[in-house]
Amino acid sequence: MKARNVLTAMVAMAGFVLCLQCTNKGAPVAEEPWNVQAVENARAQIGLEIDTIEASGQLLNPVTLTPEGKVYYCGYADWRSGFFPGSVWYLYELTGDTILLPLAEKYTEALDEAKHLTWHHDIGFIINCSYGNGLRLAKKEAYKDVMIQAAKSLCTRFHAKPGVIQSWNVTGNSWQAQRGWECPVIIDNMMNLELLFEATKLSGDSTYYKIAVSHADRTMQEHFRPDGSCYHVIDYSIADGTVRHRQTAQGYADESAWSRGQAWAIYGYAMCYRETGDRRYLDQALKTFRFMQHHPHMPADLIPYWDMDAPKIPDEPRDVSSASVIASALYEISTFDVPDAASYKAYADSMMQSLASPAYTAPLGENGRFILMHSVGSIPHHSEIDVPLNYADYYYLEALKRKQDIEKK
Ligand code: GLY
Repeated sequence: MKARNVLTAMVAMAGFVLCLQCTNKGAPVAEEPWNVQAVENARAQIGLEIDTIEASGQLLNPVTLTPEGKVYYCGYADWRSGFFPGSVWYLYELTGDTILLPLAEKYTEALDEAKHLTWHHDIGFIINCSYGNGLRLAKKEAYKDVMIQAAKSLCTRFHAKPGVIQSWNVTGNSWQAQRGWECPVIIDNMMNLELLFEATKLSGDSTYYKIAVSHADRTMQEHFRPDGSCYHVIDYSIADGTVRHRQTAQGYADESAWSRGQAWAIYGYAMCYRETGDRRYLDQALKTFRFMQHHPHMPADLIPYWDMDAPKIPDEPRDVSSASVIASALYEISTFDVPDAASYKAYADSMMQSLASPAYTAPLGENGRFILMHSVGSIPHHSEIDVPLNYADYYYLEALKRKQDIEKK
C-alpha cells in the first residue's frame, strides 16, 4: 500500500488561517469546521492584543477603534469594561490554553473597584462578564463577595413604585437630563439582571431575585409593542410609577426597532426564563426573535442593520454586535424545551457562519486586533459607526462556546 504523505499546509486566505490536510496527490481530504477555525482565529487575534497589553506594562482594557484608527482603552467604570476580561475567560474555556488563566484573572481583578459603582446600571454587564465568568471557571471564593457587593450596588437604583432599576442618572446638564426624563429605563438593562440572579444563588438572599423579577415583569409590560419589537427607553415617574415617555436614545426613531435593543430583549428574556422557569419570559424572547427573523429588512446573511427601520436601507451600516448577541441567545434557547428547538440552533449557525466569514471577521493583526468588524455604537450620537466593539467579540465567543457545548452533548 502506498504510503500517504500528510502535508499540513497553513494557507493564509483573506486573513484566515485555514488548515488543510492534503494527500500526496494534493487533494484536500479534511477541512476544519468553520467554528473550529473561528476559535483558532479568535485565539490568534486576541493573543496579539494580549501581547500589546502585556508589552505596555499597563492594565489596558480595549473597547473599540477611534476615528483615527487607534485602539480606545477604557477605565473600570465604562459599561464595556467587563467584556475584554470576559473574552479572555471564554477563550480560556474554548481552547483550554492555561496561559490565558492568569491573564483572565489579572484583567478581571483590575475591575475590583467597579463593585461599588452606583451611578449607572451597567455594573451587571461589568461584573458578571468578568467576575461571573471567573467564578464559574476559577472558583475563586473572593469573587463571590465582589458579585454580591456589585448586586447590592445595582439594587440601590431600584424604585419601588415603578418596580424597576433606573438605568441612567438624569442629573446636571447631561444629555439624559436634557431629554426631560425622570427615571429612564433602557431595554439593555435586562442584561444586568443576570448579576442579581447570581447574587441570590451565591448569598441565599432572595432580595436580588425579587428585584430582577420585578424589573423583568414591568419591562415586559411597558417596553414591547404588539408586533414583539421593543422601545429603547421607557421613562417612569418615581413618585407614582406611571410611564412618562416611550422613546429612543440610540435608535433611528422612537417608534423604530433599534437592532441591539431587540437583541438585548431576546437575550435578556431567554436568560430570565433560564433563571426562573417562567414561560412568559421565553415567550417574550421568542416573540421578539420572530419579529427580527421575519422582518422584511433582515438581510440574507442575517446580520441586522443597526436599526431595522433606518431610512436608507440597504445603504445603512450593519450592527454585528446585535447579531452576536442574538446568536448567543438562540443557542441557549435551542437547549430549552421548545417546539422546533433545532431551528433556533440552525438560525444561530447561519448567523455565526456569516460572522466567521471574511465579510465580518478581520484579517489577523488588523481591525485594532478585534475579532469582528462592522458594529455600531450610537448613530444618533455620531459615535462608533462601522467599527469593532469589544461586546460584539464577547458575545461571539460566548456563542462559539455555547455551540461547542451543545455539540459535545
Ligand atoms: N448598553 C449600551 C448599548 O447597547 O449601546
